[in-house]
Amino acid sequence: MNKKWWKEVVVYQIYPRSFKDSNGDGIGDLQGIIEKLDYLTELGIDVLWLSPIYKSPNDDNGYDIADYQAIMDEFGTMEDFDRLLTKAHQRGLRIIMDLVINHTSDEHPWFIESRSSGDNPKRDYYIWRPPINGKEPNNWLSRFSGSAWEWDQKTGEYYLHLFSKKQPDLNWRNPRVKEEIFAIIKWWLDKGIDGFRMDVINLIGKAEGLHDSVRPGSSERWANQPLTHQILREMNQELLSKYDIMTIGETPFVNPEIGSLYVRKEREELNMIFHFEHVALPDLSGENLLKFKHIQQKWYSLINNQGWLSQYLANHDQPRPVSKYGDDREYHQQSAKLLATMLLTLPGTPFIYQGEEIGMTNVAFQAIEDYNDIRMLNQYKEEVGRGSKPAEVFKKLQPLSRDNSRTPMQWDDTANAGFTTGTPWLGVNPNYREINVRAARAKADSILHYYQQLISFRKNNWPLIYGDYIPLLEEDTRVYCYLRKYQAQLILVVLNFSGEEVSVSPELAIPLAGFKPLFGNYSLPKSCVKIDTICLLPYEARVYSS
Ligand code: NOJ
Repeated sequence: MNKKWWKEVVVYQIYPRSFKDSNGDGIGDLQGIIEKLDYLTELGIDVLWLSPIYKSPNDDNGYDIADYQAIMDEFGTMEDFDRLLTKAHQRGLRIIMDLVINHTSDEHPWFIESRSSGDNPKRDYYIWRPPINGKEPNNWLSRFSGSAWEWDQKTGEYYLHLFSKKQPDLNWRNPRVKEEIFAIIKWWLDKGIDGFRMDVINLIGKAEGLHDSVRPGSSERWANQPLTHQILREMNQELLSKYDIMTIGETPFVNPEIGSLYVRKEREELNMIFHFEHVALPDLSGENLLKFKHIQQKWYSLINNQGWLSQYLANHDQPRPVSKYGDDREYHQQSAKLLATMLLTLPGTPFIYQGEEIGMTNVAFQAIEDYNDIRMLNQYKEEVGRGSKPAEVFKKLQPLSRDNSRTPMQWDDTANAGFTTGTPWLGVNPNYREINVRAARAKADSILHYYQQLISFRKNNWPLIYGDYIPLLEEDTRVYCYLRKYQAQLILVVLNFSGEEVSVSPELAIPLAGFKPLFGNYSLPKSCVKIDTICLLPYEARVYSS
């Protein structure tokens, strides 16, 4: 197996707006991140992925960029960024940036020019079309509700926006767009950053002709097009391959066959992708656990040896994993640690999302006005507008809201969880008095310490990084069990995804007695009567080594 630093690292995603506010304006900032670098190195993190920090009107919290080479006012200045990068590098921490190049903000100077007249030189930087029979040019839908086309009265045409109407899509068929964006990428790489997470990168190339999709919401005309692969290959050959960096593409709408096209070494596109097949499952119990195992197996067998996998359970768009896949009440500690064990022992580079390491949970704010997530607010408006009962729509959308993971980081039990001395831009989860970093640091068997130990364990055990993945007990609907094998060393992982006691007897080439228990989320492994049987308590996780 070809060794690379980005295969061996543990990545931590920071959503800067909610991480740490240093100046009391209620919004996290770069200085706040600097203040927490020691916390992150103590945890064992190697790479930070920063969600967008560029100048933005924040229609979609920074995923709508108005200037790719300036820092968002609330977050600080370019000098702050340079200091952050230097201080991170001094500690051996790398930084990867979010690259959002499917769309810009409608307040980006390119779009302001583009919309100013039909013959502006920048008109073709975006995707403009005249109406067809007085209507939108095609049936495409925005990911944030409604048509993907917005009418522009002044120039009498529609522009395309696959996300909010303040996020117009760039026209990647225009060579000038490519030149401009490639120059920006080079500018950041020359600053010394360590790579990119590329936002919805598989949507950048739209199919020629912009014909109707089969169904209004289906993606076959704007996802995974040949043009996207062509651009990524050029980007790699002209730019990315010239630097020692890591790249990971966010790619919704891919299965392993389609996904592998982005990461197969010989295709020279990206190092890894984030697929969505596993996070589409509503939970990990019963049949869904089987589906999850199947997804892991499929991706592993297709990508292994040809490319590299990523592993994630959480990010700023997903609910909190302990609430979604675990039990955030009775088995909060145990199930958060169980998920950590899985994340850090499955094949692929693991990504931890801020707060996951202390078991932060979903939030249930009282009213729709307490939420900020544009996807949720648009969907709420649309469904209520169509006549659905507001209370019912609200209840349905709450557990799916992206704000579940965007509430401020819980640092301690003082006002606003120690996130800010001002008024936080989004409410703090009221459980911060119990769930916070300070409390976790003080408790020897906290979720935080468990992450710390697991991360260090992973780094000292090649099987967890470069080892083969061998699934066991594939039909078990409660227990997820697998081996990682590197040369002669075997690591056995056994995870009970149920709230009940369970016994299993995995078929192993060497007897169970030949394995020693190394790790677990309960202090005392329960003894079993039968020698080849493992007895697990609710949500118990165990790791053994041969
Ligand atoms: C994916 C990002 O993760 C999400 O937060 C954003 O809203 C969309 N892309 C649009 O940029």
